[in-house]
Amino acid sequence: MPNTEVSVNTPVPHKAERKPDPCIVVIFGASGDLTKRKLLPALYHLEQHGLLPHDFAVVGVARRDLSATFAPDMKDGIVKGGGVEESDPKLAPFMERVQYFATNFDDDEGFLKLKAYLADLDTKFGTKANRLFYLAVAPEFFADIIQRLGKAGMATPAEGASNWVRVIIEKPFGTDLKSARKLNDEVNAVLSENQIFRIDHYLGKETVQNILVFRFANGIFEPVWNRNYIDHVEITAAESIGIEGRGPFYEQAGALRDVLQNHIMEVLSFVAMEPPDSFAAEAVRAEKLKVWRSIEPIPVTDTVRGQYGPGTVDGKPAVGYREEERVNPESQQATFAAAKLHIENWRWAGVPFYVRAAKRLAKRVTEVTIVFKQPPLHLFKTEAGSSDIGPNLISMRIQPDEGIALRFGAKVPGPTTNVAPVNMDFSYAKAFGKSSANGYERLLLDAMLGDATLFAHRDGVEATWALYTPILEAWAKEKIDLPNYAAGTWGPKASDDLLAADGRAWTEL
Ligand code: BG6
Repeated sequence: MPNTEVSVNTPVPHKAERKPDPCIVVIFGASGDLTKRKLLPALYHLEQHGLLPHDFAVVGVARRDLSATFAPDMKDGIVKGGGVEESDPKLAPFMERVQYFATNFDDDEGFLKLKAYLADLDTKFGTKANRLFYLAVAPEFFADIIQRLGKAGMATPAEGASNWVRVIIEKPFGTDLKSARKLNDEVNAVLSENQIFRIDHYLGKETVQNILVFRFANGIFEPVWNRNYIDHVEITAAESIGIEGRGPFYEQAGALRDVLQNHIMEVLSFVAMEPPDSFAAEAVRAEKLKVWRSIEPIPVTDTVRGQYGPGTVDGKPAVGYREEERVNPESQQATFAAAKLHIENWRWAGVPFYVRAAKRLAKRVTEVTIVFKQPPLHLFKTEAGSSDIGPNLISMRIQPDEGIALRFGAKVPGPTTNVAPVNMDFSYAKAFGKSSANGYERLLLDAMLGDATLFAHRDGVEATWALYTPILEAWAKEKIDLPNYAAGTWGPKASDDLLAADGRAWTEL
């Protein structure tokens, strides 16, 4: 399809940014992959852009004694994963502020020692007793760590003191409605809701935030953003990678818990919500919640699960899910999950939202496709080749190749009135240059600033679990024939059938 590029005005420089208060970021589970691959590079990118406070420190906490290797290892992550030059002048002074503390997560004594250690760092680095705890640990430790922080007197500021304590909790937040409620209760018993930052890194992605800008900062899209003009919406989070050695985790999680219930539902809420009256956390969360609560219970017949078998990915042979390390050879776990959702409100009634998330698909692409209603084409029917014009589409490419395309029909040059679809294409990289942001920059910064707009709220987490828990229960009861798609394809046939039953098909990505 021919492409027409959108010309872009010179990018506007960032507005003056707020700087967080002096603080220590304390990462529990710091020996894990996330800390090295994402968190430290993100913190360093903030430092490079002058967005970290001058008085600042990072403390990695884990069970093993890694005091000798932690800082060099994190530096390696910043340089290799974060694309930073080793000679970058800010790097050496930053690394001096990267510290390590070993303790078991069930050791009360260890927490008291950590408390004293952090107080010493306050004196050394001027961090004023402000703490941002980051729980990058397996979910079974969330509640315990928070409880021990409370017991050691670290979860709240001292009485009369003006310092702050905040806690970022990684996903998955629960494994179903019951466990999410229990976890919320346990966490809320120690921390007030405004101290809790439940992270979903998709909300840190520029392209996800841009959905709101695209809709609400432009005059031309919002008037047609409803059931009068839109036929249906597709949201896809496709990964070509498999489970990458995370067998035990994935055996518990599966595609529905891992991506559909959280990342996809966050994106869906931005696509579907009403304009909030401000970007304050309460205003945005209230609108998101209305969307999730307006979704009709999902019949299991409107869902599809799949599991990859052996296949070919990027020209190389790939094993099936059941042959992956530490996976049950008869596993019923879904590596593909899809559903048809109905948002029963005035804007969306009658417009299905088809959502899917999966591992080992044909390519890595996360995209939202808004498919508009077909106009009457009678006028063009007589011309050969004009019958397959296809509807107008807005494709929001969340990643990779971030951008937005608008598909419309154009006259093919020539003596007859033939119409062909063309794309008007906006590319982030071309317009603004390549961003090194991995999503965590923005979210870490917001948490340090105390801004919870891009974090999940208790009610939201429970609303999405309420939708999907019956599906998980129904899937658990009924065994199906798995694997049912080959690695490197677009998933099981049932996924195509889900749309075909409505006379539709997934848009080619
Ligand atoms: C994580 C999931 O939350 O998101 C992973 O646990 C998944 O399984 C990842 O690969 C996808 O994130 P991104 O940013 O690469 O789309």
